[in-house]
Amino acid sequence: MNPTDKHAASTEHMVDYDRHSHMQDWAVLSKSALIANLVEQIGTVTPEFVLTDYGCGPGHSAIDAVTPAIEAYRKLDETAPMVIRHGDQPGNDWNSLLALIYGADGYRKKFSDIRTELAIDTFYLPMAAPGSVALATSFAASHWLSHAIAPWSAGAVWFSDMEGVARREMAALARSDWQRFLRLRAEELRPGGFLLVSTLGSIEDADEINGVKASSRRLYRAIQTVAQQMVDDGLLLQSALDHFAFPVWFPTEREAREPIETETDLADAFEIVSCGVEPASVNPEDVYVNEIGDPEAYGRLYAGYVRAFGESSLRLHLFARSTPDPAEVDRLNEEFFNRFARLYKEAPGAHAAETWIMTMVLRRR
Ligand SMILES: C[S@@+](CC[C@H](N)C(=O)[O-])C[C@H]1O[C@@H](n2cnc3c(N)ncnc32)[C@H](O)[C@@H]1O
Repeated sequence: MNPTDKHAASTEHMVDYDRHSHMQDWAVLSKSALIANLVEQIGTVTPEFVLTDYGCGPGHSAIDAVTPAIEAYRKLDETAPMVIRHGDQPGNDWNSLLALIYGADGYRKKFSDIRTELAIDTFYLPMAAPGSVALATSFAASHWLSHAIAPWSAGAVWFSDMEGVARREMAALARSDWQRFLRLRAEELRPGGFLLVSTLGSIEDADEINGVKASSRRLYRAIQTVAQQMVDDGLLLQSALDHFAFPVWFPTEREAREPIETETDLADAFEIVSCGVEPASVNPEDVYVNEIGDPEAYGRLYAGYVRAFGESSLRLHLFARSTPDPAEVDRLNEEFFNRFARLYKEAPGAHAAETWIMTMVLRRR
């Protein structure tokens, strides 16, 4: 299937992302010193230093991902040309992102000599000229697969709880997407450049289905519960839910490393500087633990969190497959998120999202 096929896109955009992406922003901020250090290691680049952030999104995290690199490069050289390239899909809220970049908290106020560019495409296709990128970053994005698939996966809305053929199909897509992502970045990076990937991860755990505990496992199971209730109440089709799967895969350390260790061209292209899966630096056990004493706010925040990253996939691949009427899709969407907020409000902590982050640094040989 063509990864650019719009109807099969895994997600088209994030929804109200800036207000509901605390976890993602903390994950980016936790890498500030690492980003600065990579820039120092790369050193001054001629004719220009290009940073490309793949899957930048529309929020503050896109600014927080690049600011440490700008500051570090300006310490190396006050005037050397630098290009900051924000890469994402056409449906990204580019206007919001540009307003942030050029606004009070953006980097353009302080560093007006930086050239800002947008690269609008899927990162499963080339997004930069060969050998042009000095530093490539990607935060909370590469776990999105190139397209949605609809295997029969009753009882499991995501990869981690799938079994049999569905799990194998998903695993094969995740493996080939990851290799494709790495091959493309290998083409785009300059020798001596770095690729920093930080994304949701999984940890091996013999007690879990498929032997891995994946980030947000209770949250995805809560999504399954709410969707099944809507089927039972006659609002969604059972067949739509049984074929719905979030098009994501959160890699274990082994899965992240595997292609670089086994594929000759990737082993030739990259040196693994570091790779690991660690608990998130802030609230690893429950993203909204600080609000647990206020069940109303706790429920609202969790619904906003899932809406931000998940609404687009749910609309495209679950609600629109239960009805052809766009107005009804809107109603199903509202109903789903009202029920989801209520579930969290009624049992604070019971469906808490745990977060493990896979961080990998590769050096282009
Ligand atoms: C959860 S957001 C992360 C945004 C930001 N990097 C952060 O850490 O907060 C995921 C982003 O990845 C983008 N994305 C998903 N699949 C993509 C693809 N194939 N090509 C480019 N961007 C993609 C989405 O559009 C979205 O903006």
